[in-house]
Amino acid sequence: MSKELAISTKLIHGKREIENPFGSLQMPIFQTSTFKFDNTAQGAARFSGEECGYIYSRIGNPSTTLVEERLAILENTETATVFASGMGAISSATTSFLKKGSRLIADKTIYSCSFDLFSKMLTEFGVKVEFVDFTDLKQVRRALRRKADMVYFETMANPTMKLVDIEKICTIVHEKYPDCLCVVDNTFATGLSCKPCDLGADIVVHSATKYLNGHGDIIAGVVCTSTELMTQIKGMGLKALTGSVLAPMDAFLLNRGLKTLPLRLEKHSENAMKVAAWLETRDGVEEVYYVGLKSHPQYRIAKKQLAYTGGMIAFELENPQIAERMMNNVKLCILAVSLGDCETLIEHPGSMTHSNFSEEEMIEAGFSKNLVRLSVGLEDADDIIADLDQALEAALKA
Ligand SMILES: Cc1ncc(COP(=O)(O)O)c(C=O)c1O
Repeated sequence: MSKELAISTKLIHGKREIENPFGSLQMPIFQTSTFKFDNTAQGAARFSGEECGYIYSRIGNPSTTLVEERLAILENTETATVFASGMGAISSATTSFLKKGSRLIADKTIYSCSFDLFSKMLTEFGVKVEFVDFTDLKQVRRALRRKADMVYFETMANPTMKLVDIEKICTIVHEKYPDCLCVVDNTFATGLSCKPCDLGADIVVHSATKYLNGHGDIIAGVVCTSTELMTQIKGMGLKALTGSVLAPMDAFLLNRGLKTLPLRLEKHSENAMKVAAWLETRDGVEEVYYVGLKSHPQYRIAKKQLAYTGGMIAFELENPQIAERMMNNVKLCILAVSLGDCETLIEHPGSMTHSNFSEEEMIEAGFSKNLVRLSVGLEDADDIIADLDQALEAALKA
């Protein structure tokens, strides 16, 4: 076979570099904390790196290696490392490089715990953090007048679905400061839709809890980057600083989920397009934010940057009371945070995922308590629409 294999094939077969001891179709789960050495010389050689091989599952395990190979293929990076959560991945990737006096420029609209990590924890540790709007290049250039060590943003921002032009931002940053690390949270898009490192980013982080796994049954994270940067992230961030190691069983489930990512993402996108188009015409819905709609403020970027429009929609209702009543009236959709699962999930960023933002920070980030976030699942699109329709009708009537 000389032709390059398609990504859907690669996500199912991987590189097949790990030996399967009994030839079972599915690789066994290596449910072990440690690995036996033949003798002390071998133990020493493994610790010094002279000999390849497993030592202890915080440092590596065949179940995690298997899925890491596939995640690196997905993001087209030299290497990938999995973590016990998306936050484990984000905190390991950022704190491995930032120290007292370092400067981090982050987007104003990001996942709430990343926002807390930067605005509270890292700030307390002496990192200088500045939040700007990455869709406004003037603001980014202004923030870059002083030396920055890291910039951080999301491909598709949680919860507003704002899109950042990755190539443009990374070019501006690297022209000014070649060593400044561009870190992109690609959770909402996934590497199937957009590969930030191909567009100039240095490090990609994910909550693998979401689309990558896709079944709402694990919490996981991943960092994808060069071998050089990963040495620091794995050797310091993961091994010593956070110890945020993915369990072998969860690595197995993540690997299973990845195999159907192309199928799922296609259906999520198709369903969400129908739901978003319907929402746009529905009485009582004030604004719809979906990257597949021409009305999306960064539709031009969506066209050039995303292969799939994905399953995430945000929409605004007239006031928070109507939003609350609508969410309390869904029957098929599920009122729950998280996203990227088979089930359609609906939530209220203002009082749930992003409730740590002050009113002022919400305005700065571009949303209010009128916003509802929807993760469109894999049910029949007409059933999802019918449920949202009856829930909104009940909310407006009350
Ligand atoms: C964009 C984004 N990044 C990171 C995270 C954190 O991931 P986890 O919950 O797996 O720690 C989330 C969680 O919702 C998220 O939406």
